[in-house]
Amino acid sequence: MQRLLLASLVAAAAAAAPRRVAVTGAGGQTGQLAFRRMLARRDEFDPIGIVRNAQRRDELVEKGVPADNVRVADVTDAQAILEALEGCEALLIGSSAKVATLEFDTGVIDPATGRPKLGFPKGQPYEVDWLGQRNQIDAAKKCGCTHVVICSSMGGTNPDHMLNGLGRDDGDPATKGNILQWKRKAEQYLIESGLTYTIIHPGGLVDKPGGCRELVVGVDDVMVDGEGTNTIPRDDVAETMVQALRHEAFRNRSFDLRSKLEGDGDPTSDFARLLAPLGGRDCDYSLGKIPDD
Ligand SMILES: NC(=O)c1ccc[n+]([C@@H]2O[C@H](COP(=O)([O-])OP(=O)(O)OC[C@H]3O[C@@H](n4cnc5c(N)ncnc54)[C@H](OP(=O)(O)O)[C@@H]3O)[C@@H](O)[C@H]2O)c1
Repeated sequence: MQRLLLASLVAAAAAAAPRRVAVTGAGGQTGQLAFRRMLARRDEFDPIGIVRNAQRRDELVEKGVPADNVRVADVTDAQAILEALEGCEALLIGSSAKVATLEFDTGVIDPATGRPKLGFPKGQPYEVDWLGQRNQIDAAKKCGCTHVVICSSMGGTNPDHMLNGLGRDDGDPATKGNILQWKRKAEQYLIESGLTYTIIHPGGLVDKPGGCRELVVGVDDVMVDGEGTNTIPRDDVAETMVQALRHEAFRNRSFDLRSKLEGDGDPTSDFARLLAPLGGRDCDYSLGKIPDD
């Protein structure tokens, strides 16, 4: 009898313990916002921010983030990411290849556009958005994470989207550029993994305060005229990633996310009902192109 009582007390304590949730890209923008939103809710979350290298970790710690909550792992290193996820029950993926001007110092100009040439000097989408996300999904499964949330992007239904052209001429065309296609491949991999998933396709990200706008959901890049802009604050995406862990309605869903302008509509607060307008519809992965590996 006493043993039973002790077991139920232990179970109750475990149930009330803050959830250990990892977030990659924690030194970047949206990932860091999601990390900070969880750090601000310590009764509910004990987040682990995963950053690419020691420099990024030091930057966060210098800004007051507890060192115990930061782990270093390059997402293209399968073993490192496996070790970084140890003990975590859920994963928010905020890592991504980053577009930048190539050879900034030498001011290389793209003859086709007359502008500084853009590319992915710190890792191509094939490496970061496909192999790096696959590593994270595999590691999540091995570690017993039960829910993976991806911050991806709108535009995935259009193989000729302008973003897919960035970095394409930077070597072997089979593995260069095509960021939205490699993201989509990782999304499908997650869906097929058997893990609980939430895939968010934000519109253009803007650095405006979160919590001030009405959010608009959709699927397959379809935007109804007059229903919001094609942009959304990073902070609102970050909050939606965190809320996805809280509400049943986000389990095994893939959707587009945009916002109305501030003052147009009521700021979204009831996240349990955010996806209600979709009536159960999800993004259709037969649209767009998913490349072979
Ligand atoms: N920009 C837009 O308008 C837009 C629109 C829709 C969707 N999105 C997508 O939304 C997501 C968030 O975008 P964002 O601009 O907020 O993110 P971001 O600031 O570019 O952050 C990306 C993060 O990924 C990290 N990262 C890259 N390669 C890595 C590696 N090999 N190992 C570990 N970490 C690595 C970066 O680390 P470092 O800082 O060390 O490089 C950075 O912290 C991305 O998937 C992006 O493609 C963007």
